Amino acid sequence: MRDTFHMAITTNQNDRENGLPSRTSILVAAARAFGSRDPDEGVRNPDLLADRLIGPDELMLIRDHPFGKGLLQDYSDAIQNPFVAGFAGQMILRTRFIDEALVRAVKNGATQIVILGAGFDSRAYRFRELLIDCRVFEVDAEPTQEYKKRRVKDVLGDAPENLTYVRIDFAKDRIGDLLQAAGFREGAHSFFIWEGVCMYLPEDSVRKTLRMVASHSAPGSSIVLDYASSLAIEFGKLTPHGAGGIPADWSEPWIYGVPGANGSEFFRDLGFDPGIPISFHNPEAIKRYALRRDGASYASHVMEKLRAEAQARIQAGIAPPPLPEGFLDAQKAIAAAGGAYWLAELTLPDHSKPSQTHTSSVEL
Ligand SMILES: C[S@@+](CC[C@H](N)C(=O)[O-])C[C@H]1O[C@@H](n2cnc3c(N)ncnc32)[C@H](O)[C@@H]1O
Repeated sequence: MRDTFHMAITTNQNDRENGLPSRTSILVAAARAFGSRDPDEGVRNPDLLADRLIGPDELMLIRDHPFGKGLLQDYSDAIQNPFVAGFAGQMILRTRFIDEALVRAVKNGATQIVILGAGFDSRAYRFRELLIDCRVFEVDAEPTQEYKKRRVKDVLGDAPENLTYVRIDFAKDRIGDLLQAAGFREGAHSFFIWEGVCMYLPEDSVRKTLRMVASHSAPGSSIVLDYASSLAIEFGKLTPHGAGGIPADWSEPWIYGVPGANGSEFFRDLGFDPGIPISFHNPEAIKRYALRRDGASYASHVMEKLRAEAQARIQAGIAPPPLPEGFLDAQKAIAAAGGAYWLAELTLPDHSKPSQTHTSSVEL
């Protein structure tokens, strides 16, 4: 693997063609590994296995990104980097929100767990006990899945017996057929995780995947996902690295944003009860998922530093760099929508039960 890896880095060839994993799947796992090192339990990322899965070879693949170095540095130094702290903070929210939804779904009777675009997701291992009576499907592109299987075997040993791997290209394959061929039972109470994926897919694939979930699962089943709004994608076009901030030569740009301020109408039209989607900037969500013992949020120290630096520049009479046309309007539109990057649990209504007031994905 090392040889293939060095060839890809030096020739900058397409990762998938070289049988290498998606670099964004390594990036987000590295960010979870980073957050899992925080000494404060209030903000620690619960994905303690990520730090074992992401080793030196994996970090080499993302060496042109701050996390490629961040994991090799002393934690208290690396967390001073605003990008590292901000991104790791988002992952803490995301991991905890999805973990909570998973536990709730299994307690409510879900027997099939489908992890779409699984990357280095460790839940089949971290929640082995909870999921003992469930079938777990990890669905992903072949190169990422094959790499992950090898890595997991090396560091964690054999996969749990209840885990089935399914290969897919969301942009080409019919996911319903692939899942059924792998043993997915139509109509069973199911829980889907679609974490960090739909922003990389064409709109048609996003719609088809959600339609499949809606039409092949029992009422009461749900899918938890994070997503960008279309406002985020538009705003990204005005920034140097685009929405998501992914290096351009990774060939994994964010291309899709869910329409509408927070996506509710879009999801409702596809047959889901979207609850109330939660913005990553929602102060209540930050309080619930990423608050330190001293009351500060995970990344507040770097945000304050950035604010102080901007203030100092103004006082010194240093003019800020000119903003691209439309930047402030795009920023205002995002503020009016309540955010640009969201988390939601979409539920398939159970019409046989008295109507429930499903007001929020989570009680905040
Ligand atoms: C940012 S990673 C997220 C991985 C994982 N869900 C997590 O949060 O750790 C994006 C994942 O989407 C998968 N993916 C992107 N486009 C895909 C496609 N067209 N078909 C199958 N998988 C795809 C990648 O292989 C990768 O595992």
